[in-house]
Amino acid sequence: MRSLLRHSLVLALAYGAMGGNAWGTEATAPTTNPKRIMSTPVKVVGLQVYKSPTCGCCEDWIKHLEQSKLSVRYDNVSDMPALKNKLGIDSRYRSCHTAVSAEGYVFEGHVPAKYIRQFLKEKPLDAIGLVVPGMPAGSPGMEIGADFSPYQVLLLTRDGQSRVYATVQTYESQF
Ligand code: CU
Ligand code: CU
Repeated sequence: MRSLLRHSLVLALAYGAMGGNAWGTEATAPTTNPKRIMSTPVKVVGLQVYKSPTCGCCEDWIKHLEQSKLSVRYDNVSDMPALKNKLGIDSRYRSCHTAVSAEGYVFEGHVPAKYIRQFLKEKPLDAIGLVVPGMPAGSPGMEIGADFSPYQVLLLTRDGQSRVYATVQTYESQF
């Protein structure tokens, strides 16, 4: 016990001689560590999905995102129209589920994961997100046998308008 006390006293004195503060090291360590973790570049794309508790295609779309290595969390929401109103998704653009990225971009409906990645890399200045209105047959999460209807991925702009972001002609080209 006596030697232990002497040992820590020596350490404290040595640290003091180096210009440090023995108490300071304890106090600063916890605040600097999380900062270092947060500034580490992370490649993971995180999406928060809002969906109705009774809809199966939303879950299939989430599986598609996960298979595409996107990190997804989801919540069941009873009033989806209210949420879409809040996020600025006009009724003509709506589908079932709505996803929001960490940056606040919205992805409405069965948007293929590859376009989400592409969009989040480009971050178009006037855009609030991407939408696939309705439920095109054969889009990710909407696989019903071999049915496929070509569809468009629209980019939603801040002024409430949209423009074509991608035209999906074949099932295979979605992945
Ligand atoms: Cu759906
Ligand atoms: Cu659904």
